[in-house]
Amino acid sequence: MRKLLNVSQGAIVIFLILFSACSPKVVSPTESDLSRGKAKYPDLSLTELNEGRALYVENCNMCHGYYAPTDEPTEEWYGIVPEMVGKVNKKTGTEKIDAAEQEKILKFVVTMSSASP
Ligand code: HEC
Repeated sequence: MRKLLNVSQGAIVIFLILFSACSPKVVSPTESDLSRGKAKYPDLSLTELNEGRALYVENCNMCHGYYAPTDEPTEEWYGIVPEMVGKVNKKTGTEKIDAAEQEKILKFVVTMSSASP
């Protein structure tokens, strides 16, 4: 019985490693990211940043691998996000990402683009 438990625990650990490896470049926001982000977006919350990250992880590797927010200079993201959201919506043939969700993705990448590596 004890051995069986260990096997399934091992499987869970392997699963978690594989699962988190799917988006290693898209780091999760922390409280310190939030305080930096609030300088630009005073109403920003950690929930909103996490929602932006979830939307990013869900939609932004359909055609290429994930770019890290730090891969592009902050000011570039203001153009890239609407362009890429347009691509997502065109590819899926729906309004998969609406304007409010696009804004959350933008706040996430803009905030995280200035995270120290
Ligand atoms: C339908 C396919 C498609 C989807 C979905 C897509 N991209 Fe792209 N992406 C591309 C193509 C094609 C390029 C390279 C050519 C270009 O810049 O238009 C690219 C380039 C990029 C670049 C590099 C830009 C540059 O100037 O070099 C970034 C960053 C990026 N995508 C982010 C995203 C984000 C964020 C999302 C999710 C909102 C996303 N992509 C979803 C097709 C896609």
